[in-house]
Amino acid sequence: MNRKDYWNRSYLEYWKRRVAESGKEGETSNVISGDAKTEDDAVYEFIFEKHPMQKGSVLDVGCAWGRMFPVFKKLRQRITGVDISRAMIEEARKDFAGDTSVEGLYEAPAEELPFPDGKFDNVACLAVFDATFQDKALYEFLRVLKTNGMLYLTGKNDAYEDDDALALNAEEGARKKNHPNYFTDTKAMLRQLEKQGQKIIASYFFPRRGDFGKLNYVTDMPQKFYEYFLVVRKKASSKPFKPFSDSMSKTFRTEQQK
Ligand SMILES: C[S@@+](CC[C@H](N)C(=O)[O-])C[C@H]1O[C@@H](n2cnc3c(N)ncnc32)[C@H](O)[C@@H]1O
Repeated sequence: MNRKDYWNRSYLEYWKRRVAESGKEGETSNVISGDAKTEDDAVYEFIFEKHPMQKGSVLDVGCAWGRMFPVFKKLRQRITGVDISRAMIEEARKDFAGDTSVEGLYEAPAEELPFPDGKFDNVACLAVFDATFQDKALYEFLRVLKTNGMLYLTGKNDAYEDDDALALNAEEGARKKNHPNYFTDTKAMLRQLEKQGQKIIASYFFPRRGDFGKLNYVTDMPQKFYEYFLVVRKKASSKPFKPFSDSMSKTFRTEQQK
């Protein structure tokens, strides 16, 4: 299956159901029985409050139907959304028709953003980076940011705890569904960002699957962890990155060899 076709109407309905149950009572998902719930907006609002956006514009990469737009509107941002999926962008166009905070909605992949260098004050890529060709996408995020612009980025680390059964199940399930899935060598990515001269403003590490939704984090990078949320300030022009992600986590590979 072409990766673009994966993000279709039925994925849209699925993700809507997962977002709808987030933040409601109970820790486990009813959509995927036994899994952790996905994080609700409050988790993102916490980060934006601690590390405020620059005033002006935000590019939401992988915006889906505009799930985060109400949050960005509260922050008085002018919003541009981009998503690889036609179904998602059509839904966003319908839901935000006539909304003057939403300046543009584009069907395009994160790795080829249809914008000139230095256009946006902020870029957010939330719950999407693991579906992208990460080195190419990260280059693009920094390219379209203004100097001093802020990047908000979440992703999955390439080594999580061996006994994190929810993480292992999710990785296995994703592979069965052909869900595009990439795990970051977070240390290698941070090293390259720093080498380029970008400033890491904050890093949050969520040890196990489900900790993100509960805001259970540490700020010193553990050896193994499941997810991260990084806040980066663009300080230098974007340069190409060497690959720093893999389609299979080290934890999963080790488990397979047992
Ligand atoms: C799990 S949803 C997250 C949506 C939204 N950011 C949120 O936090 O609810 C992933 C979204 O990323 C989009 N997506 C996946 N791969 C992409 C890519 N390479 N470029 C742009 N968008 C992508 C999908 O179509 C989908 O809308």
